[in-house]
Amino acid sequence: MTSYTTKKGKTYWPSAEMKKIAWVKDENIYKQADKDPIGFWKKLAKEGIDWKASWKKTYEEKLPYFKWFKGGKLNFCNNCLDRHLKKSGNKIALIWIPEPVKEKTIKLTYKELYDKVCRFANVLKKQGVKKGDVVSIYLPMIPEALISMLACTRIGAIHSVVFSAFSADALKSRIEDGKSKLLITADGYYRKGKKEDLLTKAKEGAKATTIKKIIVVNRIGKKVSGDKFLDFNSEMKKADGKCDCKIMNSENILFVLYTSGTTGKPKGIIHDTGGYAVQAYWTTKWNFNLRKGDIMWCTADVGWITGHTYAFYGPLLNGSTTLIYEGSPDFPDPGRWWKIINENKVNVFYTAPTAIRMFMGADGKYVKKYKLDSLKILGTVGEPIDEDAWNWYLNKIGGGRCPIIDTWWQTETGGTLINALPGIGPFIPTVAGKSFPGTRHIVVDEKGKEVVVGKTGSLVQVSPFAPGMLHGVYNDDKKYKETYWKRFKDKYDTSDGAYVDKQGNIRVTGRTDDVMKVAGHRLSTAELENAIASDERVGECAVVPIPDKIKGQVPIAFVVLKQGGGSEALGKELVKHVDKKIGPTARPAKIYFVDDLPKTRSGKIMRRILKDVLIGEEPKGLMTLVNPKVVGVIKGIINKR
Ligand code: WT7
Repeated sequence: MTSYTTKKGKTYWPSAEMKKIAWVKDENIYKQADKDPIGFWKKLAKEGIDWKASWKKTYEEKLPYFKWFKGGKLNFCNNCLDRHLKKSGNKIALIWIPEPVKEKTIKLTYKELYDKVCRFANVLKKQGVKKGDVVSIYLPMIPEALISMLACTRIGAIHSVVFSAFSADALKSRIEDGKSKLLITADGYYRKGKKEDLLTKAKEGAKATTIKKIIVVNRIGKKVSGDKFLDFNSEMKKADGKCDCKIMNSENILFVLYTSGTTGKPKGIIHDTGGYAVQAYWTTKWNFNLRKGDIMWCTADVGWITGHTYAFYGPLLNGSTTLIYEGSPDFPDPGRWWKIINENKVNVFYTAPTAIRMFMGADGKYVKKYKLDSLKILGTVGEPIDEDAWNWYLNKIGGGRCPIIDTWWQTETGGTLINALPGIGPFIPTVAGKSFPGTRHIVVDEKGKEVVVGKTGSLVQVSPFAPGMLHGVYNDDKKYKETYWKRFKDKYDTSDGAYVDKQGNIRVTGRTDDVMKVAGHRLSTAELENAIASDERVGECAVVPIPDKIKGQVPIAFVVLKQGGGSEALGKELVKHVDKKIGPTARPAKIYFVDDLPKTRSGKIMRRILKDVLIGEEPKGLMTLVNPKVVGVIKGIINKR
């Protein structure tokens, strides 16, 4: 059996075999990159990306702003498609697995994908979309998502993808923020064997906004009529198959993606073209040791940054094959994912700890049924992974062979930043690893001073900032400055806690702000509280996350009704209301109706106290409350159930 790792204590190291096949195997790369990070990225940028004109300055920093490859010219789509056509035009770029078992897998070669992207770029042009315009994309995991996104990048339009499980209201607020005139959506998709409606939400979300036209992919055979609507396929048929790439500046915006922060309103994270492309290319190549002939499957939905960078762009920039799957991991049974790996001989598999924990709970026979020996590298992302899940993943999925690359990063960072490299290691359960060569993260105290080894503090990134980093918050400069640059001035604030071990590996402990990770999905306390409080019967409410065995964290809501009281039926209605405001991913796991919430003299709700009560710990800081008695009452309510 091929062996890619060797074990020593709890630590795994790359085997001789892994060293043989790895792109990077010499740990001196870290030191070399550290000596001259800007020069390091300059070299990588030239080697990995096709530029139409070289830049004048590799890196410019005027904090809180910084630019990479300023003046460099390129087109992102050209880098994903055109440049591979000559040598690999007939190679498979995309494998798409529909959820219904009887439906055929679709495979698109680079040439075929190129043809579709050019056509769709012409469809966009026909609708008047120009360089710098925002196009909203509200699509499930189907090839048209990739086609639409690439078509935008081909003509210099900015895509703003909205997760298809988000609600009409969530879509609306994102459309309004980006002022997009065009929405690309589908009539629906398959989920757990059922047809899931998307069109109704899309219509509602687009109503009374800047959207002039809605292009609809026919996925579940719904009838669509009205002046506002265009059919994706008929437009494609009419369109020309030739479309030149719009040459862009490196620092032009490539896309906007909204993510939750500490306030009620999601932020539009801005990513530029050149820097993002460079980081996406190299992190995909080195972290996953991706070879041209490899098939990579990143299970993330395109609605999240992981879907953008590693399900779509990273593998294509590298000229490899990416696999995507439309549906539910356990449809028709919990063996579906392993069947897909088996049948398609997937080499690189990248998923979230929450999925691993879910499968750990399922019957082991489903994994055993399939051959997973095509796998070479396993990745995880989205939240800290516990040791049990790490070991299960290593042994049950990787057969003890494949290194586990635990990648730490954020929507804001565009690509991965902290992880072990497969040819260097070490691979230690729960430890992410070292900063990607050419980047540097340290752990600091409240004053921004680096703390000693082993001590937990705030994880920050120091200058020069990574090429894939965000370049602002769309329409909200103030938010950009306050969120990322206020606390530590010249250091990027990740809002994560972490510590460094003796070997210099970083262990990320989790968010330090009011952001939860629910099944790997990012959700803000304030956003969920706003959603619940917008029901007219609600007076006020507080949301706190508690640990959950499968999802990592789940939100619990404490609700004070204007009229007092509360019932199970009303609880259900409030859950429905959350579905409407944000989407089912944000559903509170439990709603407690209470008469009052613990508050300080200045009226601040003490969520920490609620959390202590929920997890059965003695709440601290009761002295600061104006209404300490309420804590006992809430305890009683929680323990009653
Ligand atoms: C937050 C960012 C980045 C892609 C998906 C999530 C947490 C992410 C890890 C990891 C521990 C992690 C952090 C981070 N996180 N990866 N390997 N170990 N925590 O992107 O939705 O922007 O969330 O996810 O708390 O800040 P995101």
